[in-house]
Amino acid sequence: MRYLLFLHLLGATVWVGGHLVLLLGILPGALRSRDVAPVRGFEAIYERIGIPALLVQIVTGVWLATLWLAPSQWLSDVPVAHLVQAKLVLLAMTALLGVHARLALIPRLDGQRLPQLGVHIVLITLTAVAFVWVGTGFRYGGLF
Ligand code: HEM
Repeated sequence: MRYLLFLHLLGATVWVGGHLVLLLGILPGALRSRDVAPVRGFEAIYERIGIPALLVQIVTGVWLATLWLAPSQWLSDVPVAHLVQAKLVLLAMTALLGVHARLALIPRLDGQRLPQLGVHIVLITLTAVAFVWVGTGFRYGGLF
């Protein structure tokens, strides 16, 4: 359904774009000056847009997936099922990285621990970009 795909792509721009801005636009300067303020400032604003965007991705993504394949087939061995599985694995990675950042990194964040958060930001951005790559696979019939 076109409206669903529209919302899915809109959510993708916010989720992936936001993380690329953080990784490429904000993190390098913060690391150079060992200053957590720009990262914290970005997170405070982005959180209010990024989390709803991720929720939109989950709802529209699961909905779109049911249009491709009945949920009972999601764990089967056909190419489209592999794409759905890849999306779900990426979602689990996103959740784990999010919980880890929230509980372990952000509460004790200071200049010294900023590189650790940097590694985390690289991983979550790669995961976000991988979501897009796997997404294009539906149109092209497989992961590669
Ligand atoms: C932040 C997370 C996500 C991003 C950035 C993302 C991004 C994308 C992109 C760019 C496409 C390509 C659409 C096209 O071919 O025109 C796509 C398609 C798709 N995604 Fe996602 N996605 C995300 C999460 C999910 C989740 C959690 C699911 C659930 C399993 C999902 C299921 C799908 C499906 C089924 C399609 C094919 C849509 C269609 O053409 O009918 N996505 N996604």
